[in-house]
Amino acid sequence: MSAERIAVCPGSFDPITLGHVDIIRRSLRFADRVLVAVAYSATHVKSGMFGVDERVEMIRETFAGEPRVQAVSFQGLLVDFAKAQGADMVVRGLRAVSDFEYEFQMALMNRRLWDGMETVFLAPDLEHSYLSSSLVRQIAALKGDVSPFVPQNVLRRLNERFGGAS
Ligand code: PNS
Repeated sequence: MSAERIAVCPGSFDPITLGHVDIIRRSLRFADRVLVAVAYSATHVKSGMFGVDERVEMIRETFAGEPRVQAVSFQGLLVDFAKAQGADMVVRGLRAVSDFEYEFQMALMNRRLWDGMETVFLAPDLEHSYLSSSLVRQIAALKGDVSPFVPQNVLRRLNERFGGAS
């Protein structure tokens, strides 16, 4: 384990929302560095709204002023990625009871795969507790206003794509 405390925040981030931003910022309270890791599956190259590189770019733009946050994409198992990065902790936001079963299952499976990593669950800001990337995608595609839910740079890209409210 390196002296530096590195937390991995993994996810699809399609696109990053203010809920993700909140969890990443909270992680900086106990981690020296936060690696925001966009999961990429070679077998599902076309899935999702934004390509993986664009998702990473949006995260980098969002945290341009915060050198302790880095964004990368990764393929394969999260535990292998974390190990290779010298990270011993994974951070996930827990929005509601409905998230719990999936998150608990992943945390236990990841521990079974590599005992050297802990999963830390963070409660989001109440204002973001109902927010998800899939709802943002749906609302944006139907030309609804997603400005309260995503960073400005993401809003710009969504509006470019869908010509929604600004
Ligand atoms: O934002 P999401 O889609 O809920 O994130 C899910 C993610 C990317 C964290 C999860 O699918 C993952 O860790 N994928 C990498 C592959 C892996 O390690 N799978 C086994 C998990 S127990």
